[in-house]
Amino acid sequence: MYRTLYEDPLLYERLRPTDPNDVQTVLSLLGSHCDRRIESVIDPACGPGGWLIAFAQLGYRVFGNDSSAEMCKVALDRLAGYDCQITQGNMTSLSFAPCSVDAAVEISGVVCELSRSDLVSHMRSISQLLRARGVYILCLQDVDERCLTQLPTRSWYSNIEAGDRIETIEYFIEAFHRRSRSIRMRRDVYSAGHLRARDFYLLRMYDETELKAFRDLIPGLSLVASLTLGQDDALCNLIRETYYVFRKQSSMHEFAQLSLEGNELQSGS
Ligand SMILES: C[S@@+](CC[C@H](N)C(=O)[O-])C[C@H]1O[C@@H](n2cnc3c(N)ncnc32)[C@H](O)[C@@H]1O
Repeated sequence: MYRTLYEDPLLYERLRPTDPNDVQTVLSLLGSHCDRRIESVIDPACGPGGWLIAFAQLGYRVFGNDSSAEMCKVALDRLAGYDCQITQGNMTSLSFAPCSVDAAVEISGVVCELSRSDLVSHMRSISQLLRARGVYILCLQDVDERCLTQLPTRSWYSNIEAGDRIETIEYFIEAFHRRSRSIRMRRDVYSAGHLRARDFYLLRMYDETELKAFRDLIPGLSLVASLTLGQDDALCNLIRETYYVFRKQSSMHEFAQLSLEGNELQSGS
């Protein structure tokens, strides 16, 4: 039995494939909130590369990072032939060159598994490698606290047909820590009726006020938009997902250039 679902990259990919609707949502947010030309995109916890492949197929240069060597290997294999770079490391200290990517995307919710101080380090690292006016779109999960009065809650699950067997991923909320606003989750994976993986993790819930306050902690990155999607019936109406858009401010040099152009336009009119 696996200790975590992340130990089997291909099983992960079958159970949690990249949803084309999510890709459309992200592309539309990038279109609305990124006013620089996007040529490159990073997924800082890329897993087996589902999101990277979606972007690579659209012609973007992609950068991926993951703490698991196995995940990095599978992502690299699946991206063969595309313009990509993958590193193994912690998303709190990404090792790509400063100002090297136009956009960053993390949709799987893994950011909610970071402690607050690790999240701040992660955002600082993203801020360093984004180019001016580049954006970071991340999706955070939140639970309606009214549903947490009776724990453990009902579980929710999805089944996937894999050849002649059925694979199932099932989630449970085991505990809610009100002071730290975190929930303890259990995730079970069954293949053909046998338990293949069971892991426990803490999901930290961040609200918009907390994220706005990051402005003071993370130089150059500020929250510019958020989008909460309708709750998904399949998740027993418990989990809410919100996309947050952070933008890197213009560099001083670029800012001066833009003001100059603005003045020229004004004086020319
Ligand atoms: C839920 S998967 C997401 C994969 C991919 N982003 C996707 O949406 O399909 C989470 C991945 O994050 C990786 N991971 C977890 N904690 C990490 C950390 N601190 N730094 C880098 N990767 C991490 C795991 O190894 C796993 O592959």
